[in-house]
Amino acid sequence: MSMQQDTFGSKLGAIAAIAGSAVGLGNIWKFPYVCAENGGAAFLIIYILLTMTISIPVLLAELSLGRMGQQDVYHSILRLAPNKRWIILAISSLMAAYLILSFYCVISGWTMEYLWQALSGQFQGVTEQYMTERFVSFVNSGHRPIFWTLIFLALNSIILGFGVSKGIERCNKLLIPLLFIMLILLAISATRQAGWREGVEFLLRPDWSKVTGRTILAALGQSFFSLSIGAGAMLTYGSYVDKKENLMSIAIIVSISSIVIALLAGLVIFPTVFTYDVALSSGPSLVFITLPPLFGMMNGGLVVGTLFFALLFLAAITSSTSMLESLVSFVIHTHHITRARAILILYSAVGVLGSILALSQMDSSCLILLGKNLFDWADTVASNHLMPLAGLATAVLAGHYIEKNKVIDALSSKERYPGVDVIYLLLRWVCPPAIAAMYLTAFIH
Ligand code: PHE
Repeated sequence: MSMQQDTFGSKLGAIAAIAGSAVGLGNIWKFPYVCAENGGAAFLIIYILLTMTISIPVLLAELSLGRMGQQDVYHSILRLAPNKRWIILAISSLMAAYLILSFYCVISGWTMEYLWQALSGQFQGVTEQYMTERFVSFVNSGHRPIFWTLIFLALNSIILGFGVSKGIERCNKLLIPLLFIMLILLAISATRQAGWREGVEFLLRPDWSKVTGRTILAALGQSFFSLSIGAGAMLTYGSYVDKKENLMSIAIIVSISSIVIALLAGLVIFPTVFTYDVALSSGPSLVFITLPPLFGMMNGGLVVGTLFFALLFLAAITSSTSMLESLVSFVIHTHHITRARAILILYSAVGVLGSILALSQMDSSCLILLGKNLFDWADTVASNHLMPLAGLATAVLAGHYIEKNKVIDALSSKERYPGVDVIYLLLRWVCPPAIAAMYLTAFIH
């Protein structure tokens, strides 16, 4: 069987796919509450600075490893760094993709359930108390979250079944502009709300007194997660980008879009929360418990609520397909099997773990370790440990181990892009110590 790589057909397609991976639940579901927990604007400023100086170089390193390796994360690294130690990087990326994808499918399943509730007018006249009970009973039912998890995973599998250009690229080219338009409509509609000013101020006026070492760590973690760093997804997509395209411009456009989308999500959520003077709660409850009653109260809330959950769903599916592709591509290259068969194997593997994680959230669940359920463990292990460590290893591999000229060529295509040397310097001297320092500080605390 030929192992010729399927690739993205155009630069626009590559940007849409890479942006699709980046923009996800991390921007719309996680960003607003992590930002709220960490002092609003101060967090935002640190987040943007870290994205510019650390995350963009590491994202570029990951994309360029894919370009140089031309295969999945495992075989690309094997080809570029024959020294066995680097295999740990590949394995940790694949583990991260597997764990994140499994819990991501569960939350994406919730968004489908809530999209259905919004569409059928079930938020009309509900209270926060009622939504809390409904959320708890949904999660505790066990079979309903599993049902949606498996449906969501099936949709991912169908998209990937069409291949890289006909499946992933085509789908992102359609969904990403749609997502942008929906978010802009929601942000415009939020300007009509009484709490708009307060919401915008919260997002734009920094309160530096809330900033601690933890804030900086939270910002780096958020930035890595949001740019899909450390799960092999960007490396795999990097291998699909035509070699004549400039990775620098693609990475910069994608990173800016990701920041803008997170900001817009804040501009939708904060004014709504301030208008109705409810507590800015954190965690999943912000989106799944606090917001629905507010949609039920506002004029045109049926449309706004439906648009909001449809938006979450679109953002989720364009990201999850990139994680699944990272795993599918690995299985295809390892076992020399067809794409369809690899997808089937991974559907089973992710479906089983996703279902276990969904069950671990039930109150009666015994899937608890050291006071934390398996769902939270999957998130903690992948987001706080595997991804930052993979990001660190990626920076060291591209900045110190692989020949400089090779990396620079991969970063900038034929014509040398201004700024490529700055990126390389950041990658070599700033990213590794900065990521290591932040990781160790988190570990000590
Ligand atoms: N970037 C995605 C988000 O913000 C999450 C993700 C992580 C996607 C790792 C792929 C790989 O939701």
